[in-house]
Amino acid sequence: MLSQTSSKLDSTCSTTDKPIVVALDYPSLEQAMAMADQLDPSRCRVKVGKELFTRAGPKILESLHAQGFDIFLDLKFHDIPNTVAKAVRAAAEQNVWMVNVHASGGRKMMESARSELDKIAGHRTLLIAVTVLTSMARCDLAEIGLDIDPQLQVKKLAELTQQCGLDGVVCSAQEVALLRQTIASDFALVTPGIRLASDSSDDQQRIMTPREALELGSNYLVIGRPITRAASPMDALRAIEQNIANG
Ligand code: C5P
Repeated sequence: MLSQTSSKLDSTCSTTDKPIVVALDYPSLEQAMAMADQLDPSRCRVKVGKELFTRAGPKILESLHAQGFDIFLDLKFHDIPNTVAKAVRAAAEQNVWMVNVHASGGRKMMESARSELDKIAGHRTLLIAVTVLTSMARCDLAEIGLDIDPQLQVKKLAELTQQCGLDGVVCSAQEVALLRQTIASDFALVTPGIRLASDSSDDQQRIMTPREALELGSNYLVIGRPITRAASPMDALRAIEQNIANG
């Protein structure tokens, strides 16, 4: 029997069902909506992060929902269990498609968030966790008292996230193969750092093509500038879809 979690994922995880999540990294509602107006909500989802949400507030969610977009609210909550549980409830009550927390907040925090969401009748918000920020190297982890290889820490936190009943993790595409060795396909892997061979890598250090990331076991691809800075965002989206379909 499928769990509530896996049946929720099954309906959203296939590669034919909108794996592309466009990062709307803008400083205002107007700029974000100007980009959203050029995108087709039947072909992609969108991600709202800390800058945009802090400036525009819940109105950005209303505006994007009115256009028909599924929203990944990328606020990476990390606080005491009660506070995080109430924050994810607030996100789910605003009908976001996906919301995230930091796995390093620990078991109690993640379990509280999970059980708070499960109290909301009919909610379909996916709850995922960030493992280790890709900006953290081994020396950065050592400085905060974690004397561990970053990849091992990623694996440890992804497994903890799964044990706590969350729906997936955000991870680097480089970590997907490692995580898929032990983590089932109904646990979503959401990966940024995606580029076509013809794209600029911008400030991303290690990149992967959309098709490679999906073939390794990624479920959702977070892609920003290759789409949002393109002369025609929908042409850029189409090129990504073609890479997924044909390599
Ligand atoms: O423009 P680009 O495709 O590089 O945007 C990627 C998006 O994914 C940005 O919103 C960025 O903050 C986010 N992200 C990332 N690397 C991570 C986690 C999130 O690039 N490790």
